[in-house]
Amino acid sequence: MAVERTLSIIKPDAVAKNVIGKIYSRFETNGLKIVASRMAWLSEREAGGFYAVHKERPFFKDLVSFMSSGPVMIQVLEGENAIAKNRELMGATDPKKADKGTIRADFADSIDANAVHGSDGPDTAKVEIAYFFPALNVF
Ligand code: PPS
Repeated sequence: MAVERTLSIIKPDAVAKNVIGKIYSRFETNGLKIVASRMAWLSEREAGGFYAVHKERPFFKDLVSFMSSGPVMIQVLEGENAIAKNRELMGATDPKKADKGTIRADFADSIDANAVHGSDGPDTAKVEIAYFFPALNVF
């Protein structure tokens, strides 16, 4: 299996709940290494740029407004099959549909405030890592 990198964001709702450490612990105990991280309070412009691919979707404005409503913790995770592994740990987008024991089932309240983001594929991961960590070599 290939060693991959993926972009992860702990969203404002989970940062406000003070569960960064608990979420990091899930990454680490499941073989994902945190190879870069930074805390940031995104502007609407930064959040909008990050989610530009969704700009035609009805929830775009709410998503951008939520993602810029408070600090987020942004990290690059590295490990075997990291992209799929992180998505598995996160659980479904809607926490009501997320499997028991996933991050969203345990820490998210709603589809709007769903605790974490994770890249959905290798191409997206490259773009997203470069967006927040331009100096990091991606592979
Ligand atoms: S996904 O995870 O990309 O497959 O999910 P998708 O359904 O395509 O949603 C893309 C991102 O939009 C968020 N989202 C919403 N935000 C606010 N309101 C509603 N109704 C809503 N539906 C989806 C969803 O959490 C995804 O954000 P990220 O950060 O990529 O997980």
